[in-house]
Amino acid sequence: MSRRPLIAVNWKMHLSLSEAAALAEAISLSVATAACETVIAPPFTSISVVAEALRGSSVMLGAQNCCWAEQGAFTGEISPLMLKELGCSMVIVGHSERRQLFHEDNRMVNRRLQGAMAAGLVPVLCIGETLEQRQTDQTTAVLKEQLLECLSAVSVTDPSRLIIAYEPVWAIGTGQTASSQQAQDAHSFIRGILADMFEKTIATEIRILYGGSVKSDNVSALMAQADIDGALVGGAGLHIDSFAGIIHLV
Ligand code: 13P
Repeated sequence: MSRRPLIAVNWKMHLSLSEAAALAEAISLSVATAACETVIAPPFTSISVVAEALRGSSVMLGAQNCCWAEQGAFTGEISPLMLKELGCSMVIVGHSERRQLFHEDNRMVNRRLQGAMAAGLVPVLCIGETLEQRQTDQTTAVLKEQLLECLSAVSVTDPSRLIIAYEPVWAIGTGQTASSQQAQDAHSFIRGILADMFEKTIATEIRILYGGSVKSDNVSALMAQADIDGALVGGAGLHIDSFAGIIHLV
């Protein structure tokens, strides 16, 4: 198995241009001595300045969403080709905030994911259950449905071209992380579904990140789990001290 640990940071709708540039530069310096791969997903408007700050660095650039189409009349959307042109190699799709606040459903996420892949971007597909779904024992059914629908008609022959992020909605921005065992159980279930959908060797190699209140004091226990290959960090990625604490523990 060669699943290199990946720490992705989603800045959501935070940071001014100068703050984004300064933090990206600090992260790139800090990552030079870290063992994991790192990717920053800034707001669209900061991507250029972050690209400039990361020039020559091993830190990769990502985005927080993309349209399925390459161009056209899609007011307010961003084409995957535009992201490629800015130097992005990855893009988050299906984040729970997109699903909950902007009504994106699995079908739309599937289209966005396919658009990203067609443009050569690696999608980071976010899935995860709400608190109510967990409390009513629907977690595995929800995860399975999200995977089947978001990955419908998608073929994966190279496992490095797809990343899954398990982000239980109740753990996002709440300070309430899933326990290492809860996360491992979900990741192992997800890998099993991927093995049914794709070749087993592909499923074994696809990286599955955990997201939801990841911090330096819980990342080691999460990363010690067999099927957790990295983290998708939100709040703790907005300050160099907390983020450096995470990447140096991985
Ligand atoms: P927090 O780390 O702030 O909980 O956010 C997680 C997240 O949504 C990353 O995409």
